[in-house]
Amino acid sequence: MSRLEGRTALVTGAGQGVGRGIVEVLAGEGADVVVNDLFPDRAEAVAAEVGGRAVAFDVTDLAAVRAGFATAGPVDVLVNNAGIPAAGFPQVDFKDSDPELWARFVDLNLYGVMNCTHTALQGMCERGWGRVVTIASEAGRVGLPIRVSLYGAAKAGAIGLMKHLAHEVGPHGVTCNALALGGMEGLPGDGSRNPVPRLGKGTDVGATCAFLASDGAEWITGQVIGVNGGAVT
Ligand SMILES: NC(=O)c1ccc[n+]([C@@H]2O[C@H](COP(=O)([O-])OP(=O)(O)OC[C@H]3O[C@@H](n4cnc5c(N)ncnc54)[C@H](O)[C@@H]3O)[C@@H](O)[C@H]2O)c1
Repeated sequence: MSRLEGRTALVTGAGQGVGRGIVEVLAGEGADVVVNDLFPDRAEAVAAEVGGRAVAFDVTDLAAVRAGFATAGPVDVLVNNAGIPAAGFPQVDFKDSDPELWARFVDLNLYGVMNCTHTALQGMCERGWGRVVTIASEAGRVGLPIRVSLYGAAKAGAIGLMKHLAHEVGPHGVTCNALALGGMEGLPGDGSRNPVPRLGKGTDVGATCAFLASDGAEWITGQVIGVNGGAVT
């Protein structure tokens, strides 16, 4: 299938993990893929593998985001994937957390999404077509006993942003959705308690992004879609 021929898709934090799987699927659907990461070598390696372009920048730095998008050219599909996964930081009860750590979670998981989305939306609205998909987490929509309050709060903020933006930009042909991921490969365990008894793969997420980026999904906006093996229903 080539549902994304003629579209340029920029995926943040795509130098490894989930983002790598997303660009693989989007490139397979015919998109001109722009691989972003904080680390240029990671972005370049993945871009070479999937036949895309590498544009490295830090999503938390608005000036760097603006410059990166200028290098990339018009972006039709933005996937806000860069984020701190649940296993990527010390998990502590909120009451025991160091307030100096709080900004780190909000900067990457919420400000990063705002910086990239704000930069992409102007052109999408002017051209009358655009797709924004934000990679969130089930931790952003349900309470969990795994001590990820800060992460969940930032992801919930990003989900709320997508819901409100859907109303603002829908009339301009732009949709905004969020994906709530369950446990992905690389986390401890094997996912055997999920209804689909395995951990998630980046390509599972990529398949959902490709659908949401397609013309056929033009009436789906402001939604949170669980990509979680059925773990949360
Ligand atoms: N792994 C999971 O189980 C899981 C579960 C739920 C949600 N998620 C979400 O999925 C997304 C991807 O997670 P992952 O597991 O692939 O993470 P990962 O850490 O394996 O990869 C993230 C990539 O983002 C890059 N990155 C980090 N900070 C950046 C910045 N400021 N600017 C640009 N790039 C930056 C990193 O260099 C890295 O290559 C995240 O938003 C995460 O919150 C992951």
